[in-house]
Amino acid sequence: MNPTQSVFLVGLPGSGKSTVGRQLARRLGLPFVDSDHVIEQRIGSSIRAFFDREGEAAFRDLEAQVIDEVTAGPLAVIATGGGAVLRPENRVHLHERGRVVYLRSTPEDLFRRLRHDRHRPLLQVADPLARLKDLHAQRHPLYAETAHFAIDTGRPSVATLVNMILMQL
Ligand code: S3P
Repeated sequence: MNPTQSVFLVGLPGSGKSTVGRQLARRLGLPFVDSDHVIEQRIGSSIRAFFDREGEAAFRDLEAQVIDEVTAGPLAVIATGGGAVLRPENRVHLHERGRVVYLRSTPEDLFRRLRHDRHRPLLQVADPLARLKDLHAQRHPLYAETAHFAIDTGRPSVATLVNMILMQL
């Protein structure tokens, strides 16, 4: 395949954006970029530490700047942070500058995958499943609006998910 557009992956934390994105990039012969990783390189610390130090609003400002830059950059497969769709300008940039794939997962599946995760600041709460349900309710419409199509991540292997995406690009 000879891609003419970048591919942006959106979805809740734990939906597989980085894992699927890496394999998809290999299949398309494109570089893989993780926008959270770009942010961490820029701030020189983990996102969790930055959240604790500066708060969520400062993180969202930085995230918007990085999303603007990477979506306007060279062709790539780009995994975005789960909250990247919260800012309207990010939604526009993502939708207009490439093909956007929503990796759709249920809160229960995400909970199973993330139970032991200590890196995601928004899930460091007493009841992470309830938090994931809230995030899903709030963000599902934003992911759906931003994406050109959605893929259900429930059962298929990563390789199958990649094939499903390749068929719809
Ligand atoms: C966030 C998701 C994280 C990261 C930050 C905020 C969110 O990315 O950007 O912790 O608001 O859902 P992942 O989706 O890769 O976990």
